[in-house]
Amino acid sequence: MNEVQIIGTGSYAPLNIMTNDQLSEIVDTSDEWIISMTGIKERHISKGENTSDLATKAAIEALKDANVKAEDIDLIILASTSPDQFVPATACIVQGNIGAVNAMAFDISAACTGFIFALNIATQFLKTGQRKRALIIGAEVLSKIVDWTDRNTCILFGDGAGAAILEAGSTRGIISINSTSEGQKGSVLTCPTVDVKNTFIKGNENFKATISMDGKEIFKFAVKIIASSIKRILSENNCTLEDIKYVVCHQANFRIIDFVVRRLKADKDKFFVNLDRYGNTSAASIAIALDEMNKTNLLKAGDKIILVGFGGGLTYGASLIEWTINK
Ligand code: ACO
Repeated sequence: MNEVQIIGTGSYAPLNIMTNDQLSEIVDTSDEWIISMTGIKERHISKGENTSDLATKAAIEALKDANVKAEDIDLIILASTSPDQFVPATACIVQGNIGAVNAMAFDISAACTGFIFALNIATQFLKTGQRKRALIIGAEVLSKIVDWTDRNTCILFGDGAGAAILEAGSTRGIISINSTSEGQKGSVLTCPTVDVKNTFIKGNENFKATISMDGKEIFKFAVKIIASSIKRILSENNCTLEDIKYVVCHQANFRIIDFVVRRLKADKDKFFVNLDRYGNTSAASIAIALDEMNKTNLLKAGDKIILVGFGGGLTYGASLIEWTINK
């Protein structure tokens, strides 16, 4: 079996930034409420770019960081809750845009855990030797599926994309990874696509293809699952939090991360946070965070980090990684 490592990262977010004050002009909210309840100060919102556009820019940056040509990629997995269209897959659009002519490309849907699921699937392909070099992407234009009249949700989300290049070989970067789904709890966070409407049925007049959620239930699920996922991956690998340089949780809400820090009696500085500037970018959030950490040299070869995703499905997953990029 091969080992797998991350050899490059990239990210991109639309240039247009929307502040909490701008949001308070369209729904009954305030900068103070949003910051105190979520930690979010601003988010990037597309002014026309679609998910594949953001993903393509993140992918090109990741290829450059890894010093790899698009033709050398033989697998592309793109995780998104907001793909461009049903067909073709957004991964295939990205493949065409970057010229990755030798890749198999497909999308996955695991909401905010999408990047961890993509990492897991790609790792299996590379470990078995079926593929050599994978581009994995988390990309979202959530602003197109947000209900901009619902203050419970529209304040939370942002648009963005993050990417990583994985390579098979003898260097062990991905130490451990797990992914779980709990479909029986899926109704707490939903976003329908199109209504069932055809020659036999008229469809529902009130149908809305927008995100809705039970915030309190998601909050409870998130804090429980993050804490248990961290404990599980540490114990499975005979590690303690002392051995870990950074924990990178899905960036949904600062209060969720703070709750976990207190529950684990952990050092808060170990928990990377950038949600204040991006909001919740679902499948993209961990990938954007990883790229930011890479580009700002927070990570050094030999550092151990834990990634933890959680989200709609419900889904969750975690990975223990040894950083192997030497800058
Ligand atoms: N501005 C001002 N007031 C608001 C807003 C807003 N944007 N939204 C809700 N309120 C009001 C409510 O109407 C309510 O008022 P009331 O007491 O008069 O009825 C009050 O604030 C409290 O509302 P709750 O919904 O009970 O607040 P809660 O403590 O649950 O916090 C929040 C809401 C921040 C959404 C929280 O539930 C949360 O963060 N949950 C996690 C959800 C999440 O992160 N989802 C992201 C997608 S899922 C994922 O990424 C995994």
